[in-house]
Amino acid sequence: MKNKKVHIQEVATRDGFQNEVKFVETEDKISLINALSACGYAKVEVTSFTSPKAIPALRDAEAVMHRITRQDGVVYTVLVPNVRGAERALSCNVSEVNLVMSVSESHNRTNLRMSREQSFAQLSDVIHIVRSTPTTINVSLSTAMGCPMEGDVAVAAVLGWMQRFADMGVHGVTLCDTTGMAHPSQVRALCEAARRQFPALELALHFHNTRGLALANTLAALEVGVDRFDASLGGLGGCPYAPGATGNVCTEDLVHMLKLDGYDTGVDLAAILVASARLPGLIGHDVPSQILKAGRRSDLHPMPASASLPEQHAFSSSAG
Ligand code: COA
Ligand code: ZN
Repeated sequence: MKNKKVHIQEVATRDGFQNEVKFVETEDKISLINALSACGYAKVEVTSFTSPKAIPALRDAEAVMHRITRQDGVVYTVLVPNVRGAERALSCNVSEVNLVMSVSESHNRTNLRMSREQSFAQLSDVIHIVRSTPTTINVSLSTAMGCPMEGDVAVAAVLGWMQRFADMGVHGVTLCDTTGMAHPSQVRALCEAARRQFPALELALHFHNTRGLALANTLAALEVGVDRFDASLGGLGGCPYAPGATGNVCTEDLVHMLKLDGYDTGVDLAAILVASARLPGLIGHDVPSQILKAGRRSDLHPMPASASLPEQHAFSSSAG
């Protein structure tokens, strides 16, 4: 298991910022994305080309996408819900479009204001347009591990939607635990089935830490061979159309854990901690990152002077 490569996909400037009340200025978004570009990520989800009425926080998508400095080797992806979004994204020369729909009907209608079949029809049109360009296509399936309105989501339903998109030749699929309903044994079963049925699809997982299970779920997915994960700097994130949704798995917490366990993420932990420390200033509130608060396991502290030992031999005792 040592030095096994794990691909980290940063989503803070999309999944994170879409949910913030305070508008993050375009210049600040660009500056943050440029900093993240140098941190060793496999992919950065820059923004979304959604309706500015639905997601006003990302109404500057074109400006951001045009003005960031792109690094070789980093895939720059954007969320796209319909043909209009795809046309806007292609006009910015994105490396990938990340198409989105939900596995559950209720969440799709709430989030995208259309039925799943209407979404699929629109996304099919998008795929036809994008397929003739160098831009690759990923599909994010929301509520793949539970719906906040319908409850359990059947594995067969997830595999069924994957099949329909695989048949259209998409490059990858991301299974999203939109509201943190997944648990480790469920993740293992779903990922095993997905990998068995679709060995040629690039499979990514997207966990939210709504119930504190995101790192546990990541380990469960790693156990069955998944090697690609979305994560959000500072633990920002949340779908505005999912009751009770909170942040994604926190990138620095995830990278810290994977590094300790000998995985190679390629991500520079010290550099993303510097970037994460900028977030409260941009969004106007604290972030749920554990490592930003506690420091890395390797960040030791000097023993306080007040704790000096009265007896010289105190350390030499073999008593535990
Ligand atoms: N980019 C920009 N504008 C868009 C757009 C896009 N991708 N898609 C639609 N619009 C505009 C339309 O032009 C229309 O504008 P108008 O009112 O000035 O005429 C308006 O948005 C409504 O369009 P309509 O087709 O009726 O869509 P809708 O109101 O039913 O919204 C979505 C459908 C999908 C566009 C919208 O719900 C959306 O963008 N949702 C985002 C969901 C999301 O990102 N959730 C979080 C991540 S999972
Ligand atoms: Zn999400």
